[in-house]
Amino acid sequence: MIMIDTTNNLLLTVSDLKTHFPVGGGFLRHGKVVKAVDGVSFSLQRGRTLGLVGESGSGKTTVGRTLLRLIPATAGQAQFDGQDIFSLSSRKLKKLRRRMQMIFQDPAGSLNPRMTVGGIVAEPLKVHFSLSRSERRDRVAELLQRVGLAPEYVNRYPHEFSGGQRQRIGIARALASQPDFIVCDEPVSALDVSIQAQILNLLSDLQEELGLSYLFIAHNLAVVEHFADDVAVMYLGKIVEVAGKEIVLGQSGRLQHPYTEALVSAVPVAQPGAGKNRIRLPGEVPSPINPPTGCPFHPRCPLTRQKAEGMSAAETSEIRIEGKTHRVVKRCTCEIPTLKPTTKDPTHQHACLLRQ
Ligand SMILES: Nc1ncnc2c1ncn2[C@@H]1O[C@H](COP(=O)(O)OP(=O)(O)OP(=O)(O)O)[C@@H](O)[C@H]1O
Ligand code: SF4
Ligand SMILES: [Mg+2]
Repeated sequence: MIMIDTTNNLLLTVSDLKTHFPVGGGFLRHGKVVKAVDGVSFSLQRGRTLGLVGESGSGKTTVGRTLLRLIPATAGQAQFDGQDIFSLSSRKLKKLRRRMQMIFQDPAGSLNPRMTVGGIVAEPLKVHFSLSRSERRDRVAELLQRVGLAPEYVNRYPHEFSGGQRQRIGIARALASQPDFIVCDEPVSALDVSIQAQILNLLSDLQEELGLSYLFIAHNLAVVEHFADDVAVMYLGKIVEVAGKEIVLGQSGRLQHPYTEALVSAVPVAQPGAGKNRIRLPGEVPSPINPPTGCPFHPRCPLTRQKAEGMSAAETSEIRIEGKTHRVVKRCTCEIPTLKPTTKDPTHQHACLLRQ
């Protein structure tokens, strides 16, 4: 899946990315493999935000960490400003790392408790730029000010700050290397609601001022609605739908992927009637060690059960979920859907055999 880019302004293009983790014995014959990311493709334009949503364990963080080469990719390609991220030499990788940063969900856990704020923010400056001591000190003060912290805090330690202030320190550290692209991994999930808006506004201002591109990982669709331009929905290591946020969040009247429909029905986003008819999905998210055959969503999908009602026995299969037998469309149990553009809009893509 490649999003249509009319301005030729692509910063990042990811194609068929896979990140598998060997568990209990490695990739060898008897080992099991967690397919945390299993064939993900998307692209991101400069200055824009792609929201990445999905239930816990769907592979969102693993996508971000793989792109930053914090963990190795198993397969696939990723082009960042024309460079192939996964085949760079260590010298070129260091240069690229300056341009790609990450902000974490848990600001406390991601800041070294034994370092002062000044030391934390100065670290990337030491790695990526040759500055004199006084230039570095000035730059740290400037960065702290830019994220809304008093430069006098420079000698304090992370535990002396509130959660929101700690996230501001994490943002200052990410900005220090002057990146183009930031993976924001649930940057406000751990914060009080009143503080969340302040941090989101800060990220928004920084994007406008510095032309940053964000991959914005979130559980909360209301946050994505506020913040993202486009939204990709992940389920069991795959993207099942991607489009402009109004389409994905069901505000355009277009048909969504059945999984997206269920996610959106469960949250208070600004969609007429949202939350009123909550779609309850049966069963749990299956294990990425042993994903279902065919469409990975088929054991929980309301659409395949509904469509199977009018079909002959030959076109359907029986499955058991939560002790009950359900009839589903046979195709859904044996064919793996790929992301395809919908007929109405090439930038709206989803992976559903019965809606393509
Ligand atoms: N290092 C690892 N070794 C083995 N399995 C892993 C590893 N890291 C992640 N996983 C597994 O990969 C899957 C995807 O994990 P990931 O953290 O990317 O999900 P997520 O969508 O970010 O979830 P959350 O919303 O809870 O943060 C999960 O099943 C997780 O247990
Ligand atoms: S392919 Fe079948 S199981 Fe998968 S989402 Fe579409 S209808 Fe549901
Ligand atoms: Mg995560």
